[in-house]
Amino acid sequence: MVPIVTIDGPSGSGKGTISKALAIDLNWNYLDSGLIYRCYAFLHSIGVSDITQEINYIGHEYDLEHETISYRNKNITDVIRGTAITKLSSELSQLSAVREKLKLIQKTYLKEPGLVAEGRDMSSKLFPDSLVKIFLTANLEERVRRRANQLRNAGQKVNISELKNEIVLRDDRDMKRTQSPLKQTEDSIFIDSSEKTVREITNLIKKLI
Ligand code: DC
Repeated sequence: MVPIVTIDGPSGSGKGTISKALAIDLNWNYLDSGLIYRCYAFLHSIGVSDITQEINYIGHEYDLEHETISYRNKNITDVIRGTAITKLSSELSQLSAVREKLKLIQKTYLKEPGLVAEGRDMSSKLFPDSLVKIFLTANLEERVRRRANQLRNAGQKVNISELKNEIVLRDDRDMKRTQSPLKQTEDSIFIDSSEKTVREITNLIKKLI
């Protein structure tokens, strides 16, 4: 069986950074399931009709510090990570028809020698048999600070109180929806990343593996 580590958590919990670092470290495959929802929302926003087909033309290159998301040779990183697609992806992810379609795409990431999968329902729905399940979070101030940095690095202006409201609203929607809401499963290990370094957390997860 291919070993899987699933990491779920709210926005700004650090799950992206931790999952990427772990996947690079272990030389395993990496699934950013939120990115699949974002791609769906992006293609929806530009009026694409056969989204599941067109999603094949989106590319994702990444290392620990940078990422480039492209669509038919056009760089769409800032749009995909920007405010409008962030909100739309959370809204569309409430629809069970959308979730079912995207589930099939997410499952294709499960390949040898292993998979690190991050999102909201990785432990509960996508990979309930995963080897190590983590529920990662951080306090709200820290999550706002991280998201603000991410947006500033992408050259966007940030209004902290607006951003805080957006994060609270989005997390609330992601946790209260009827379809696969974000919640800690009983067999997940809870980690608060507010005062821990990336290295501390990846080492802890490697020990658990
Ligand atoms: O992780 P993210 O912020 O890139 O995710 C964007 C949105 O996608 C998030 O607000 C809810 C949705 N999502 C989901 O419903 N299930 C997942 N496994 C991952 C993301």
